[in-house]
Amino acid sequence: MNIKNVMVIGAGQMGSGIAQVFAQSQFHVLLNDISEESLQNGIHIIEKNLNRSVQKGRITEQEKTGTMNRLTTTTSIEDAKDCDLVIEAVIENMDIKTKVFKQLDDITKPEAILASNTSSLPITEIAAVTKRPEKVIGMHFMNPVPVMKLVEIIRGLATSDETYQAIKDTTKRLQKTPVEVNDFPGFVSNRVLMPMINEAIYSVYEGVATPEAVDEVMKLGMNHPMGPLTLADFIGLDTCLYIMEVLYEGFGDSKYRPCPLLRKYVKAGWLGKKAGRGFYVYE
Ligand code: CAA
Repeated sequence: MNIKNVMVIGAGQMGSGIAQVFAQSQFHVLLNDISEESLQNGIHIIEKNLNRSVQKGRITEQEKTGTMNRLTTTTSIEDAKDCDLVIEAVIENMDIKTKVFKQLDDITKPEAILASNTSSLPITEIAAVTKRPEKVIGMHFMNPVPVMKLVEIIRGLATSDETYQAIKDTTKRLQKTPVEVNDFPGFVSNRVLMPMINEAIYSVYEGVATPEAVDEVMKLGMNHPMGPLTLADFIGLDTCLYIMEVLYEGFGDSKYRPCPLLRKYVKAGWLGKKAGRGFYVYE
């Protein structure tokens, strides 16, 4: 399948990053959100990233203009009708995601592929609300999208080989590396990452060490670019808690129980960098 026209639904941090990398790889991209303000924020993030790349000499001013020209914003999901691929990057809420997929199933042409950037919700369940489960797939980008090389490709129970191959090829066109995984709670990325973050939080909770010390151990001792608690603040503590709940519920195994300190911080509104406070304080 020749994918040319793409819609990205959700102009938040992930959606705008996804739209940027597609537009930089010559795809025509429609960026969709329910609010005009979110769209303008998304475009602003993209422009800022591209300006930085121009300043660093990685791209030319002309390439930046070309990328921006391939991006169109819309508040109407109906505009997905001519798209070959739609990537949903709305909030991690099953009701909202299934509502979007039902709509897309009605709007898009029958051969269009519908992908979700979910970090933890089951692709099989999302696919089941459509009449084309073989064309539904997970395309899990990592944050920050323009920098991170991985795209975790999640095959739902019914995802066809043809759909998988088309998404694998598309990911390579984005200069990213696709890794195939099956649809189980947390996939691979968050099944491994989140228990590590949760254990780092337990280390603080149990008084083993300060957040600074835990992060320093993992940065200097394991060569992680960020310590787990800095990374948790960067991802959002609400998102970390949500994913731990998905693992805990999905496997029914106590080893995935979220740390009480994580729950406490989320209840306090200490959600990490976006809230100005998490394990660290942000100006
Ligand atoms: N958007 C675009 N580019 C960004 C960026 C952003 N938000 N943040 C940093 N960059 C770019 C910088 O411009 C810089 O580019 P140059 O090399 O050209 O200068 C480059 O990334 C490195 O940035 P910095 O020098 O400022 O800082 P750094 O060396 O510490 O790197 C980082 C920043 C790439 C974010 C690095 O700290 C890192 O890799 N952290 C771990 C990120 C990670 O683990 N992400 C996965 C999160 S989990 C997830 O996404 C999945 C999920 O479901 C929860």
